[in-house]
Amino acid sequence: MKRNLQVSDRVSKISKSAIHEMTRLSKEVEDVAFLSWARPTSDTPEHIKEAGIKAIRDGLVGGYSETGGLPELRDEIAVKLRRDNHIDATPEEVIVTVGAIEGLSSAVMAVIDPGDEVILPSPTYSTHIRQVVIASGKPVLVPTIEEEGFILDIDAIKDAITPRTKAILYCSPSNPAGAVFSEEQLRQLAEIALEHNLMVITDEAYEYFTFDDHRHFSIASIKEMRKNAISCFTFTKTYAMTGWRVGYLHADREIIPQISKAHIPFAICAPVVSQYAALAALTGPQDCVSRFRQHYLEMRNLMCERLDRISLVFEYHRPGGSYLMFPRILAEGGDDSATFCKKLLREARVSTTPGVAFGPTGEGHLRLSFCVSADEINKAFDRMEEYFI
Ligand SMILES: Cc1ncc(COP(=O)(O)O)c(C=O)c1O
Repeated sequence: MKRNLQVSDRVSKISKSAIHEMTRLSKEVEDVAFLSWARPTSDTPEHIKEAGIKAIRDGLVGGYSETGGLPELRDEIAVKLRRDNHIDATPEEVIVTVGAIEGLSSAVMAVIDPGDEVILPSPTYSTHIRQVVIASGKPVLVPTIEEEGFILDIDAIKDAITPRTKAILYCSPSNPAGAVFSEEQLRQLAEIALEHNLMVITDEAYEYFTFDDHRHFSIASIKEMRKNAISCFTFTKTYAMTGWRVGYLHADREIIPQISKAHIPFAICAPVVSQYAALAALTGPQDCVSRFRQHYLEMRNLMCERLDRISLVFEYHRPGGSYLMFPRILAEGGDDSATFCKKLLREARVSTTPGVAFGPTGEGHLRLSFCVSADEINKAFDRMEEYFI
């Protein structure tokens, strides 16, 4: 690659985001049916917004908080981690971050040296790949087993380990496939990590959105993993707080000061107004979370029913969690997902995300988001039925 004098090799290696490109192209299409964003379309619940407004009025948000976050928020996060994730957490082991994303970036920066390899079960959230590249690490994409619902391929992960492997980074429930890695599989992964002394960095953004008999399991709840896990969480999905930019991570107290050294140059601290809102989210009524979950479950079922009606066009696995699914394209031209999605946008006015955006194993698929209304799903599928059939 020709060296660009203005831009680092690290950054120029990163490809443009297909998600953002589809968003840009979608704006050129009138009355588009939009299934491309993995962003909750509900608004933040009122009591959370009110807490933010009150904090502003009380003059609490004009300065920085402690770098690790407001002490009262970290207390509540530790309570939540013990209660819901069965992680034996204390407030000193928590850093409040700018969404899960900044937590993941700080974790990767704290762990990865240039040339270190990071195993990513794939297809995976493209931002994770970029986070490894920005840290000058080497992403090693290990395919999941699609036929069994995109579950971890434990043997393939074992085979991918080399002397340069430093970490495994995964999200469960997953973006883009909606797979929920089972406790049994994650215990096997933990054994591998301990045997090779690897860090496991987790993205648990969709922890509350699991369906049927799928259960979310936090690998850090395994006592032996205490020093080998960095677990990242967010308020974005659970409380529909995307734009507030607030999340948190948990790690052993020995590594927290090191992650903090990466967190400070990225953020200094998470937005203080959002930290007060997050405190209200954790301490206030929780019925919004079950309402969101119920909505996503209904939308998943609707999307699956609609997919069944065009089974010659797409083949899919029913997602066990998140609000995303990743059908394989059977229709002609499906092996080039970027071109397929652009055509679908221009000719059927349906916006989706090409699977290739989630690593090479994502090619031949597209990602559909069901965090939208039933009307949006029906509009998109009415158009696809007319277009394909
Ligand atoms: C798997 C996953 N992690 C993290 C994020 C972003 O989280 P946050 O807004 O907390 O940075 C997303 C957003 O789509 C996601 O899908």
